[in-house]
Amino acid sequence: MNNQIYPGFFITLEGCEGSGKTTQGRKLAAHLQSLGCDMLWTREPGGPPIAERIRELLLDTHYAGVMDARTELLLYAAARAQHVAQWIRPALVQGQIVISDRFADATLAYQGYARTLPLEDIRQLHRIGANNLLPDLTFLFDVPPEVGLQRVRQRGRKADRLEAETVEFHRRVRASYLELASLEPQRIFMVDATSDMDAIQAEVRAKTIPLLRAKGLLS
Ligand code: TMP
Repeated sequence: MNNQIYPGFFITLEGCEGSGKTTQGRKLAAHLQSLGCDMLWTREPGGPPIAERIRELLLDTHYAGVMDARTELLLYAAARAQHVAQWIRPALVQGQIVISDRFADATLAYQGYARTLPLEDIRQLHRIGANNLLPDLTFLFDVPPEVGLQRVRQRGRKADRLEAETVEFHRRVRASYLELASLEPQRIFMVDATSDMDAIQAEVRAKTIPLLRAKGLLS
């Protein structure tokens, strides 16, 4: 599906563990809803039931050190194919604003740069699984992994399989997100996720609202 031909608007949230992207995204979604926007809030891996089942497999610490990197890549791609087909594409066709907590950039960062699988294979999988659907706008919540992982620990729940990876792994994830942002500055908007929460939210809204107005999704 070509981005130009659907009436909706697709926003994705990316960043290292503990970047605060979910909190900021939910605040943005609530604000847009209060302005009368028709919204779909979703996440990856996840969304529809099949993709949520795949998420459980992917994040299960039982498979730490067991799941092959290629298996991991294909499971993320499979979850995304179902998510795009069942939820994201229909919502965009209906003119909804879709906010997804992670999407295809996460696969390039985690499986591509951090697990060192070939980027061109990952892009090819995205063409096969998701018809190369790209977000209209991506927020990259940038945080040093040490800070983000500390925040995750403070949440008090057990780390999932990816969160439990080494700090070096998470450093590669961060570096790759920064590189992706530098390659696509038109789409990927970087936010300093160590700043004040209200200031971040103001920045996120200030970037989003004019784009929604330009597309006629907000008056
Ligand atoms: P979450 O913590 O934002 O819910 O994301 C789940 C984990 O999955 C997170 O550690 C990032 C990872 N991930 C990938 O490795 N590749 C992907 O394609 C996606 C969407 C997430």
